[in-house]
Amino acid sequence: SKKITIAIDGHSSTGKSTAAKQLAVKLHYVYVDTGAMYRAVSFFALSENLIESGQLDREKLVERLPEIKISFVYNKETDRADVYLNGKNIEKEIRTLEVSSIVSKVAEISEVRAKLVEQQQAMGTEKGIVMDGRDIGSVVFPDAELKVFMTAAPEVRAERRYVELVERGDDVTLDEVLKNVIERDHIDSNREDSPLIQLPEAKLLDTSNMTREEQFELLVSWAEAAI
Ligand code: C5P
Repeated sequence: SKKITIAIDGHSSTGKSTAAKQLAVKLHYVYVDTGAMYRAVSFFALSENLIESGQLDREKLVERLPEIKISFVYNKETDRADVYLNGKNIEKEIRTLEVSSIVSKVAEISEVRAKLVEQQQAMGTEKGIVMDGRDIGSVVFPDAELKVFMTAAPEVRAERRYVELVERGDDVTLDEVLKNVIERDHIDSNREDSPLIQLPEAKLLDTSNMTREEQFELLVSWAEAAI
């Protein structure tokens, strides 16, 4: 059967990456988590002290973009691709609330987006790919055969993310996580360059009252219909 491109966009912490990853495994497709790439750039900005008391030095970051090389390397133990920054595995480092609290500011910068979008498009030239993010159906792969928009009530999303962070041993409160989820969605949906939008052709997946199995079944049925 023919290979297609699947674009999964949506709000923060809707379970996009879990669902997209599962779908890719089922279809024997490549899965790419583009949020991890924006997080990697944010981690670079943090480690290089380009952020002072919450204030990001955009000009410096843009100047230093050529130094940033992002790659994905398969990890046998977790059966997933870990994100690498300049040859160093930073998969754990990018999932903190500290990175989450600046990533949407980093993702507003057009030069950052242009660099990452170019790399993302290069990964999809052969199709047979499931990519998740905010602008995949609108900017990265406007011709994707299947586009999905995932959302859920903010409280449901915050609760899920909170449980994840606490399980990892992070010292966070549910309220902090809820604030971050709401703030990120606001910035992502209102930025000038490539805002998060629900495209008319995208299939809506509201996961508020759905189990992971139900989400997966629906996604598979949409993918099968598109292939
Ligand atoms: O998907 P995840 O929540 O890890 O993404 C982190 C942040 O990266 C988002 O809140 C958004 O600001 C940015 N992002 C983006 N475009 C993408 C993927 C992520 O702007 N395609």
